[in-house]
Amino acid sequence: MMKVLEAGFMKGFIHMADQGFLQGWHERNGGNLTYRIKEEEVEEIKEELDLTGEWHPIGTTVKGLAGEYFVATGSGKYFSNVLSNPKDSLGIVLVDENGENYKICWGLENGARPTSELPSHLMNHEVKKEITGGEHRVIYHCHATNVIALTFVLPLKDEVFTRQLWEMATECPVVFPDGVGVVPWMVPGGRDIAVATSKLMKKYDVAIWAHHGIFCSGKDFDLTFGLAHTVEKSAEILVKVLSMSPVKLQTITSDNFRDLAKDFKVTLPEEFLN
Ligand code: 13P
Ligand code: ZN
Repeated sequence: MMKVLEAGFMKGFIHMADQGFLQGWHERNGGNLTYRIKEEEVEEIKEELDLTGEWHPIGTTVKGLAGEYFVATGSGKYFSNVLSNPKDSLGIVLVDENGENYKICWGLENGARPTSELPSHLMNHEVKKEITGGEHRVIYHCHATNVIALTFVLPLKDEVFTRQLWEMATECPVVFPDGVGVVPWMVPGGRDIAVATSKLMKKYDVAIWAHHGIFCSGKDFDLTFGLAHTVEKSAEILVKVLSMSPVKLQTITSDNFRDLAKDFKVTLPEEFLN
């Protein structure tokens, strides 16, 4: 038996939250992170879990996640405090057999609740668990500065964001070959934005929330953080380019992308290459 805070997945979760804070993507309580815990990892820490708590409504239904345990950041909690005070900032929650309620089994001390974006996180997990055969386990939401800035000046279209972000760094199409989806401005924290985001997650690993931030999905902490980092770095370059000149003198062309796809053995949808 292992203490929760000694478990490898917990160390990975805390490290990722801290890395996100150090990037400047988590002002105040901005952003949230969840991880779908593996069965064998639950076994390792089971003795420290308290299953006597009350059930609370998730606010949506996620039948595909019945009986699953998640680590989640707390609502109103600051990413800046995760490293120094994890038991206050994070919790482990269990989803009930109907996929409609959760209970807190560890952490989130002093009456805290999991993130207000729990409906979006869990609906994204449900979609990704199904289409990746259980491989994706991490959903991450951050307030990435340059991505947010771009949502004020670019048309809110998947094809525009995908193509512009791909063009800003040669390896982008290799890191997110499926592209990125865009959700228009919506009220955060509820079921509607969760439904809109999880629909995009069927096609993409990244969804951009206009004037708000990024949601992304991945197999593990490194890949998911690396994905957000790559998208935001590319957005930063685009902000610099647009600030210098409204036109690009040269860029990566559609044929360049086709050549890249061949050598790097990725499939790039033609809809983004015209
Ligand atoms: P929480 O503090 O509830 O996680 O909300 C932060 C946030 O970024 C909402 O979109
Ligand atoms: Zn947010």
